[in-house]
Amino acid sequence: MKFIAGLLLGLILVPAGVYLYFTSGSAPVATTDSDVPFENFFAHKTLNARIAKDMPKNVPIQATEANYLAGAELYKQHCSVCHGLPLSPKTAIAKGMYPRPPLLFEGKGVTDDEPGESYWKIFNGIRMTGMPGFSKSLSETQIWQLALLLANADKLPDSAKAALVAPIGVSAPAASLPPATSAPVFPSSVPSSIPSSAPSSAPPPK
Ligand code: HEC
Repeated sequence: MKFIAGLLLGLILVPAGVYLYFTSGSAPVATTDSDVPFENFFAHKTLNARIAKDMPKNVPIQATEANYLAGAELYKQHCSVCHGLPLSPKTAIAKGMYPRPPLLFEGKGVTDDEPGESYWKIFNGIRMTGMPGFSKSLSETQIWQLALLLANADKLPDSAKAALVAPIGVSAPAASLPPATSAPVFPSSVPSSIPSSAPSSAPPPK
């Protein structure tokens, strides 16, 4: 009898406690607040399990200079505001986010992850972290170009390193720019003087 009473009390008290914690206004929701207990543990376990199950195992494009250059242009347009550029200070946006967007050209970045893992993250995004999914705005080839660039961030050719620090579009051969049909997220930031053509069909840059 005591056991049943204890069980029932537990069944009511525990959910009531959790409810109160989240509705009383003391749970952390600002970017400067500390973690909810076990937040990181559960978030990473869940994400890693999903990615291990889902991620593509083979990379369908080659690690060529043209693909790195295309990746570098895409990275400057869509990613650098959060993930930074080589030798540049953190942006105001990156400083104000939680969880923090890792600097992908500092330290080992994600060079120790499979390209397929980064492909999954770029394609799908990561919920409730600020990391957007790009499946609706970039082609699969473009997402692989980004994943390859990041996986090899520690051994990029000089041309790709130079492209990363040059202004958007300036050092890019036409072949490395995304095709016009890919609906760039910020069309107005691409200088109109630059012709665009599909990276896959154009000849590699000299
Ligand atoms: C609005 C900010 C924002 C933009 C823009 C953004 N990301 Fe992210 N990204 C994040 C955040 C925040 C995380 C960390 C998520 C986490 O903690 O799980 C992240 C995580 C990642 C990771 C996983 C890093 C790791 O250590 O496992 C990769 C890879 C990545 N982003 C690539 C990209 C690429 C490539 C682009 C551009 C196409 C991009 N991101 C654009 C915010 C952003």
